[in-house]
Amino acid sequence: MKLLEYVNLEVVETVKGKDLLTWFDFTSTEVKKLLELASALKSLAKNDVHPPLLVGKTVGLIFEKHSTRTRISFEVGVNQLGGHAMYMHARDLQIGRGEPVSDTGKVLSGYLDGIMIRANSHKMVEELAHAASIPVINGLTDLFHPCQALADVLTIHEIKGYLPGQKLAYVGDGNNVAHSLIIACAHLGVNVSIASPVGFEIDSSILAKAQKIAALNGSTIETTTNPIEAVENADVIYTDVWTSMGQEDETVARLQAFEGYQINENLVQHAKSDYLFLHCLPAHREEEVASSIIDGSHSAVFQQAENRLHAQKAILASILS
Ligand code: CP
Ligand code: NVA
Repeated sequence: MKLLEYVNLEVVETVKGKDLLTWFDFTSTEVKKLLELASALKSLAKNDVHPPLLVGKTVGLIFEKHSTRTRISFEVGVNQLGGHAMYMHARDLQIGRGEPVSDTGKVLSGYLDGIMIRANSHKMVEELAHAASIPVINGLTDLFHPCQALADVLTIHEIKGYLPGQKLAYVGDGNNVAHSLIIACAHLGVNVSIASPVGFEIDSSILAKAQKIAALNGSTIETTTNPIEAVENADVIYTDVWTSMGQEDETVARLQAFEGYQINENLVQHAKSDYLFLHCLPAHREEEVASSIIDGSHSAVFQQAENRLHAQKAILASILS
């Protein structure tokens, strides 16, 4: 099809028309193919080649929360693919005044070709996807952040050269970013060790499902409360903020609970000497990560942020073209 004029690859046909709410809804093969496509689209973009896979398509971008990376990378990604992106803050829509989400989904399906939404509640996004006849892409909920995870594994692949058998240590809050990251790693055979304080662990049912996928791909997902144990011999160290958007009232309690979980010079001594540091950003320097680490030579956080663009173009092109 159209993409073959540019690169010896196709969009991932089996995901056409699907929603992307979590990577649980995709097969390991599909995730691998999306990653290859993201890589190919990135190489083309570096040569100023942008396959026009979304010409004539309009994608609505709905936000209930702040965003820098997600908003800009989606707008630019849709535009680079020849489509039109339309930013909307939820408070300006009638859902901000109580119009049912299901009605909104049905109405928007009459105008748009796809919706990307960042919402407080994952349940709300499920409801929207159920009502809408067009694909819905999750741009972060309280439970998942799948677009981030594809950019994360793309970055590891670029820097380490391969994914299966790598050890990724996630140290911190068992949050939306952690959930999507472990599912993506499970699909790609990356071993994961997660260290979170008691009370801030990742969701047990998400963990169990991800562990099943990991087993099929020859990898493991382990949990501990000990950051040193998680980081021991790690190829990749990943962390995220201790207080996510919407949890600001818990900031003080969380600062106490996460004491000892900071990624700093002492902790990284336990990782492999060529460890890679990743963070989805935005970051709080001297809270979850020391400045010397995030701004140091092992950190690839800005390459990771750029990869949101390329990963999402693969998702958009495959789901919507
Ligand atoms: N990582 C991420 O999703 O960043 P934004 O909140 O800026 O979109
Ligand atoms: N866990 C963070 C991720 C931000 C991209 C949050 O939800 O605020």
